[in-house]
Amino acid sequence: MPTVLEALENRSSKRAYSDVKIPHETLEKILRAAGMTPSGANMQPWVTYAVSNADKLKKVGDAVIAKMDEGIEHDQFIQYYPVKWTNPYKSCRIVTGSGLYKLMEVDRKDNETRIQMWKDNFRWFGAGTVIFVFTNKANIDGSQGALIDCGAYMQSIMLAAQEFGIDSCPQGSTTEFGRVVAEALEVPDNLALLYSVVLGYADKEAKINSYRPKRVNLEESVTFID
Ligand SMILES: Cc1cc2nc3c(=O)[nH]c(=O)nc-3n(C[C@H](O)[C@H](O)[C@H](O)COP(=O)(O)O)c2cc1C
Repeated sequence: MPTVLEALENRSSKRAYSDVKIPHETLEKILRAAGMTPSGANMQPWVTYAVSNADKLKKVGDAVIAKMDEGIEHDQFIQYYPVKWTNPYKSCRIVTGSGLYKLMEVDRKDNETRIQMWKDNFRWFGAGTVIFVFTNKANIDGSQGALIDCGAYMQSIMLAAQEFGIDSCPQGSTTEFGRVVAEALEVPDNLALLYSVVLGYADKEAKINSYRPKRVNLEESVTFID
């Protein structure tokens, strides 16, 4: 069983999965543990749909891909990525993206393959379970605390999953089509999608799963005041 530090260090986003299903009890254990995530005023603003039904996942994926094919870039409740990319984040995005395409031997100009790789998000990378995390729209009406809480909840899910040898990929790609996802999942009208997390058993042979983008040095992101 990994220690917390090992789980933090070993986790990475996996983008190819075997078809082995996660047992329901395991999923319950992961989500019960993630439910212990702290939140401001103990609001617990996450509203979670854990979907392992293949037809439902296909329905959601088809709906998003159909929107993309119409040329629609987003249909969202919240704006996840910066509207205007500035450095150093712009360069992080470029380095991380180009590193993945280089590993996969995809040419910089090969837009078709790049789009296909992005669409794989909506085929859930072959994983059998996707956790869709919503919050009540009232929580994002001018305040951002719920986003902080639900971000911590995301990491809890991914770390708890590690204990069971289950891998993950967080998805802001679904955030961008949050309204489409909400409609396809037929969730109540008061909910807004924040993100999803793909869960499953990574395909150990898949080259794409060897991708480990680097982090900035501690000195660059942390100021110690002793
Ligand atoms: C909120 C969030 C949204 C993300 N959205 C996507 C996504 O839609 N598709 C994807 O393939 N990866 C997505 N990622 C994964 C990031 O690209 C990845 O976490 C980052 O490059 C660091 O790599 P690692 O997770 O393998 O350590 C997302 C990560 C986070 C935290």
